[in-house]
Amino acid sequence: MKLVSKLPHVGTTIFTTMSALAVEHGALNLGQGFPSFPVDPVWGDLVKKYIDKGLNQYAPMPGVPELRNAIAGKIKHTYHQSADPNTEITVTAGATQAIFTAINALVHPGDEVILFAPAYDCYAPAVELAGGVVKWIELTFPEYQIPWDIVKNTISEKTRMILINHPHNPTGASISKEDIIALENITRGTDIIVLSDEVYEHILFDGREHHSVWKSDELRERSIGVYSFGKTFHLTGWKMGYVVARPHLMAEFRKVHQYNVFSCNTPMQFALAEYLETPSNYEVLPHFYQEKRDLFLSKINNPSIKILPCAGTYFALLDYSAMNQNDDVAEAIRWTKEYKLTTIPCSVFYPNKTDHKVLRVCFAKDEGTLMRGAEILSEIR
Ligand SMILES: Cc1ncc(COP(=O)(O)O)c(C=O)c1O
Repeated sequence: MKLVSKLPHVGTTIFTTMSALAVEHGALNLGQGFPSFPVDPVWGDLVKKYIDKGLNQYAPMPGVPELRNAIAGKIKHTYHQSADPNTEITVTAGATQAIFTAINALVHPGDEVILFAPAYDCYAPAVELAGGVVKWIELTFPEYQIPWDIVKNTISEKTRMILINHPHNPTGASISKEDIIALENITRGTDIIVLSDEVYEHILFDGREHHSVWKSDELRERSIGVYSFGKTFHLTGWKMGYVVARPHLMAEFRKVHQYNVFSCNTPMQFALAEYLETPSNYEVLPHFYQEKRDLFLSKINNPSIKILPCAGTYFALLDYSAMNQNDDVAEAIRWTKEYKLTTIPCSVFYPNKTDHKVLRVCFAKDEGTLMRGAEILSEIR
């Protein structure tokens, strides 16, 4: 059979490779980007309650009304903005599906999409599958900020979408009110859609405010905001999330969503709706992860490792350029083999593998793992 791959450049990811290497060498895995601690024990009872109630059949396509109402309540509580549960909120099977659906609903063949590198890995393949053309722009180093002058020069009449992610994976950077103003200025009077990946909206530290696109009167009209219950409630395996967008954009999103997944897990939607009734369940997040960040990073005592600033998310970047000039993939492999600690080399998040000699570590781990991780990091030479 002659098969022509639609994604010829996609192979085994570094995440799979590094995790396999971690197992092979019995290494502590700080590469994997998900929590290692137990979830709130109420979840089992909550989901069982709705299964026992017989709520086990297809949910309505945009999500059960109870959950969409609860999400609207969360948006009101968090951003002091209204979102219509009927026309502006759709429940998705996690953020990845939301991003794929949004891109495929709105990007036409030949349209240009601006992506910022380093970038989470699901964006570019979704654009390619939609027939779009990715226009890559690198964030500044080592601040990882958006260079707005370059964005301005990259925009053409073919630009259909700008995808931003804040707080940002893999860098832990975030955006400011000034960035939002720059985005408003640059897109004003255009047909450009902003796809805003805000899955770490509640994981922002040191009193920082999250500048959701939904808070901007201008950007709200042209944006799709993407959110993940997996990140907010440590439930990455549930693959549940949602998107928020104005009705004209949401109508197009739903046209694809209904043939992509149609609807999401019913009993879990009811469980999430009930859990969202208590805002402290998500309001605790900045404190919860800031404690982990501070504990972990303060225990790393290695003059050859520079910890880059971490404004949000549960990732931190370690600059080892004072230790050696190995390329970052080789260095990540060396740390796994020689020191039994696994990280992710940051170059894999760049289309052309830009190597700033930084490795990503995830601190969404239990205290014992973080203490051991910091101990190993202090020994690396
Ligand atoms: C920036 C970013 N966006 C989206 C996702 C995917 O989220 P979900 O698990 O809800 O699909 C992740 C997961 O790591 C992420 O880091």
